Amino acid sequence: MRQAETPRILVVGADGQLGRSLRMLAGLRPHEAHYAFLSRPQLDITQAKAISAWLDAHPVDCLINAAAYTAVDRAATEPARAHAINAHAPGLLAQACTARGTRLLHVSTDYVFDGRLDRPYREDDPVAPLNTYGRSKQAGEQAVQAADPHAIIVRTSWVFSAWGSNFVRTMVHLGAQRDTLRVIHDQVGGPTWAGHLALALHTLALQPTGSVPGGPYHFGGQPWVSWHEFAQEILARAHARGLIAQRPRVEAIVAADWPSPEPRPANGRLDCTRLEALLGPLERDWRIGLDQVLDAWQAGQP
Ligand SMILES: NC(=O)c1ccc[n+]([C@@H]2O[C@H](COP(=O)([O-])OP(=O)(O)OC[C@H]3O[C@@H](n4cnc5c(N)ncnc54)[C@H](OP(=O)(O)O)[C@@H]3O)[C@@H](O)[C@H]2O)c1
Repeated sequence: MRQAETPRILVVGADGQLGRSLRMLAGLRPHEAHYAFLSRPQLDITQAKAISAWLDAHPVDCLINAAAYTAVDRAATEPARAHAINAHAPGLLAQACTARGTRLLHVSTDYVFDGRLDRPYREDDPVAPLNTYGRSKQAGEQAVQAADPHAIIVRTSWVFSAWGSNFVRTMVHLGAQRDTLRVIHDQVGGPTWAGHLALALHTLALQPTGSVPGGPYHFGGQPWVSWHEFAQEILARAHARGLIAQRPRVEAIVAADWPSPEPRPANGRLDCTRLEALLGPLERDWRIGLDQVLDAWQAGQP
């Protein structure tokens, strides 16, 4: 990356939760980087020629891949599509980046792990995905690393934001309609506000060339909770803001009693020591992000 100048950063998949959060961050920090944002109609990352054409016409120092196929259950019925977007396309991006000396920041998931460890996952723990989506993301990590050993892969977990479909939106929506909700308590992880993830990626993108070794890094929210605990917190805060008229009862159930087409890891906790050793302490308290999301909805934003 050119050191002395303001870095140029391209975000692909710009209309998703992470992409929109990066867009918002870029607007708040216009002097730190020159961002370009491309959503799927503007650049389909499965199209190698389109990637090359864009990068040749608009050279950048860093490319952040915020594009993904994230429908975990639907991936089981569309494995080829999930693989094309989550595995093949990141490999194409990595080839394009390495050929041009562009730093690639690729985003992956705690679902590359099987969740059977009794402690938070470190970057060098063995991957063993339980479902189609996780396998496609693992294949994406492999494709990226094979094409570009300098690429940085940030695994994250339980992403939520004010946009798109996510657990917070689902809970507030259902909480407004039902007296009782049934939520899984034997899966634990770190809910991650997309705004915090965006800031971590932005900070990584600004690091000088050669200062960030390639490979996987973990970034997940704190404190760790079960889905059941997370739901209770969401509903309490939504109720306090008048977003739901009454707080429903939240019944704790086990994952085995939830009719989910695809299995999920019981332990999605990510040990973020490696990234924080590099960048210093990072903002990742999901309760701050949750307040931001609920405040935005209370103010009538989408
Ligand atoms: N969401 C989570 O809970 C979660 C958890 C762990 C890790 N992650 C990872 O975090 C990253 C960001 O996730 P997110 O929640 O922001 O995802 P998201 O909201 O589903 O957004 C993904 C975006 O990628 C776009 N996209 C799909 N196929 C594309 C293609 N071929 N070319 C260009 N863009 C394409 C989608 O566009 P369309 O809508 O038009 O298809 C969408 O705007 C992903 O790598 C994901 O795997 C997410």
